[in-house]
Amino acid sequence: MTFRFAIIGAGVISSSHAEALQSFPGQAELAAVVDLNPDRARSMAERYGAKAFGDIETAVAATGANVAAVCTPTGLHGDAAVRAMEAGAHVMIEKPADITADRIDRVIAARQRTGKLVAVVSQHRFDPATETVIDAIRAGELGRLTSGTANIDWWRGQTYYDSGAWRGTWEFDGGGALMNQGVHTVDLLVAAMGRPVEVVGFTATLAHERLETEDVAVGAVRFDSGAVGTIHASTAVYPGLTARLQIHGDKGSAVIENDRLVFFHRTPAGADRPEVFMGVQGQSPNQADEHRSGAAQPAALVHQYRDFLAALGGEGTVRVGLEDNRQAVALITGLYEAARTGRPVRLDA
Ligand SMILES: NC(=O)c1ccc[n+]([C@@H]2O[C@H](COP(=O)([O-])OP(=O)(O)OC[C@H]3O[C@@H](n4cnc5c(N)ncnc54)[C@H](O)[C@@H]3O)[C@@H](O)[C@H]2O)c1
Repeated sequence: MTFRFAIIGAGVISSSHAEALQSFPGQAELAAVVDLNPDRARSMAERYGAKAFGDIETAVAATGANVAAVCTPTGLHGDAAVRAMEAGAHVMIEKPADITADRIDRVIAARQRTGKLVAVVSQHRFDPATETVIDAIRAGELGRLTSGTANIDWWRGQTYYDSGAWRGTWEFDGGGALMNQGVHTVDLLVAAMGRPVEVVGFTATLAHERLETEDVAVGAVRFDSGAVGTIHASTAVYPGLTARLQIHGDKGSAVIENDRLVFFHRTPAGADRPEVFMGVQGQSPNQADEHRSGAAQPAALVHQYRDFLAALGGEGTVRVGLEDNRQAVALITGLYEAARTGRPVRLDA
């Protein structure tokens, strides 16, 4: 069966979805492009041999599209996803699923009501480096997890924030460096460390003008397991450095930098780790090269679509869904609340 897709929101990221779908001839095709801006919808539809529409209901009725890829500004994701499901389509939602956990709950309720499948884009979950680290954690090869850090040390110029009226606004972006850019690495942190239960944080806007939200956020997190973590998310690190995830345990550690496994040390399940009086890097082998440490996937989104199409075809479940993304979004909005109030924030999920 060929799934017929409608892309909702024909902006910057939408072409990654259109390109990714081309990797699945016979399984997926782009039937419709929906945008409030008719020129954008038309020009993208022409490029990919699809039809252009101004709303999802008409697109579904006219083309028989049965899956929607939601690529609108973030604060409109939930509404677009619910409308798509009610019109009869399954949904792939760009990250983050929406700007608050409550809004994501509305999408979860619509999913339950309509029986549709929903995936949330988090393409780096499908990087070989991430898969290696998550597999090792599940196998107990890092031992008891002790701490994790998520660092997004990026730069976005003033021209970036000026390029779309929604960028960096509370209403449509849901936050700044942490919600928009940081959500990928925060999602990986949560996937590795488990449920976050408490967060403290500070935010600031220092290197940009006309920006409602933050361009730097730092926070400290406590996870359900008792492990702790830190977050540093910035678009004010000139000229732009790396995104880095570090996961540490009492039997091993992993460092992923720019989607590549750059340090990895694990103790096979059942083996004892040698007692080390004082350990520093260089003393123990870096096993990164022995694992799937090669370059990041050229198009990790293709791998997420492969997973989604398999689930749509009845094989397995969606690997990254609304509940996962909800935990990352709740952690991010919790950090914002902590920064606003100066108090630690308990997280409900
Ligand atoms: N996964 C990633 O790595 C990644 C990268 C970039 C952006 N994103 C996400 O993708 C989303 C879009 O970002 P972008 O940079 O492409 O934005 P953009 O501003 O370039 O595009 C958004 C498009 O949505 C259209 N739109 C707005 N409201 C609409 C509505 N109600 N119905 C239909 N169309 C509507 C706009 O006209 C515009 O064409 C954001 O949520 C962002 O976080 C994800």
